Amino acid sequence: MAAYYVTTPIYYVNDAPHIGHAYTTTAGDVLTRWHRQRGESVWYQTGVDEHGTKVQRAAEAAGVSPQEWCDRLVSQAWIPVLDTIDAANDGFIRTTQEQHRLGVQRFWEVVRDNGYVYQADYEGPYCVGCEEFKLPGDVVTTDDGTIMCPVHDRPVEMLSEANWFFRLSAFTEALISHYENDPSAIEPVSAHNEVMSFLRQGLRDISMSRSSVTWGIGLPWDEKQVTYVWFDALLNYITAIGYGTEPGSEQAMEFERIWPADVHLVGKDILRFHAVYWPAMLMAAGLALPRKVFAHGWLLVGGEKMSKTRLTGIAPEFIVDHFGSDAFRYYFMRAINFGHDGSFSWEDMNARYTSELANGLGNLASRGTAMVERYRNGVLPAAGPPTDAETHLQTLLLSTVERCDERMLALDFAEGIAAIREYVEAVNLYVTEQQPWALAKDDAQAERLNSVLYTIIESLRAICVLYFPVMPKAMAALWQSLGAHAALGEIADQRIQSTAQWGQMPAGTVVSKGENLFPRLADADVQS
Ligand code: ME8
Ligand code: MG
Repeated sequence: MAAYYVTTPIYYVNDAPHIGHAYTTTAGDVLTRWHRQRGESVWYQTGVDEHGTKVQRAAEAAGVSPQEWCDRLVSQAWIPVLDTIDAANDGFIRTTQEQHRLGVQRFWEVVRDNGYVYQADYEGPYCVGCEEFKLPGDVVTTDDGTIMCPVHDRPVEMLSEANWFFRLSAFTEALISHYENDPSAIEPVSAHNEVMSFLRQGLRDISMSRSSVTWGIGLPWDEKQVTYVWFDALLNYITAIGYGTEPGSEQAMEFERIWPADVHLVGKDILRFHAVYWPAMLMAAGLALPRKVFAHGWLLVGGEKMSKTRLTGIAPEFIVDHFGSDAFRYYFMRAINFGHDGSFSWEDMNARYTSELANGLGNLASRGTAMVERYRNGVLPAAGPPTDAETHLQTLLLSTVERCDERMLALDFAEGIAAIREYVEAVNLYVTEQQPWALAKDDAQAERLNSVLYTIIESLRAICVLYFPVMPKAMAALWQSLGAHAALGEIADQRIQSTAQWGQMPAGTVVSKGENLFPRLADADVQS
């Protein structure tokens, strides 16, 4: 079965993981878990970008080899953060892996054979922070004449080298017509427009190797030059899944199965690399193009883009230690429109945690399961004939699942979650209106109480499945407490497509009130 293939950028290994990185990885994880929940085969790929001058210099400063330096950062920072945010990635690539090196070298041999690589001299301003030569329009000159990189707020270095060029200019027209024919290949629309106007200026050839850098992947035909780190990094998307391995081998067949990518998730800072250079490289090698590049917005903290250089980087565990990984995932997908900038604040997160998770969903789950325990000894009763109130919830569930599925597939996580949240509110309202605690006092209302209890638990069953891709830990716990595991099997095996089908929880299921899913939190003093 072909795989739905989603990637994150491979993050610079040198930087400490912060919530900006975790944001992209969480989005990809929610998206791929959603597709798995639909029964699709999925490949979710992430990893780290390990080559380049910055890494080499940091290793030297620490007195270790670049490889040791990378190994340390990967095992101490980058692998643990995946666990912190509960990411279920299938692959984790490091650009220092042998398979990657072989794939990169194979790629350039093919592209050179196809006539898209040539040798020439190059001189220009180079930013070590960006690891790229800057175009005249990309730099700013200060009053004293210093040429600065505006991204990193630091002076550029003038580099001159004889190196190899990639014939990027050959692909201007092909890229324009590709994106005109398929505008959805770059989303959101603002990103599409930005790339189109860049393309319409015409592309210039770009240097694809460096002689001044040693920590990188040597060119197969010129070992004194290493691959420009951005080209090295972009190629991870194919080397990670088997590109360049022995034809006919299992890995080569995996590549055939998984490529092309369905979505490359990126921040808008690296859109041009992914929507211009990368597809041009693929065309040069005769490979299929990714179906979509999705450029999301910035996480802002205190109104500014959060970054390590601005010293506002927040470590994911700082938030997860307090709120838990489920709330982390929920908050960033729910509170920020994917594709737009959004602000993070502790106060906002705390407020939503309390109202939507603890009081909303958490309260519904604990009330519902506790009442089955109290009024029916923990055994789920069969429902009596439905009234309008029950029919309403069943109908609402149908439209909820449809809307949620449609929005999640479109990477509109905030609206997908809004659909589920509104359903949770409707069920909470139902409980308030039906007053099961009053029905319990009147023996004549026993059948009515059975219906109400059944409706709450059956609704929770559906909510649990829909929220599982967003909050896997809490929903797995709720699944247990509903007794759904014994009755319906694993939560991972429930399908989105049949979630709205009413009446799946069998009467007689043993329901128990579990731990609080979202315990009330003491206010932490985090501002200092
Ligand atoms: O650019 N808000 O790596 P990188 C939202 N190695 N997302 C953010 C963010 C913020 N404030 N800060 C970072 C590189 N990100 C290259 C990529 S890919 C072939 C090579 C996320 O460590 C966002 O996804 O600088 C952004 O694009 C990425 O981290 C940049 O990671
Ligand atoms: Mg960056």
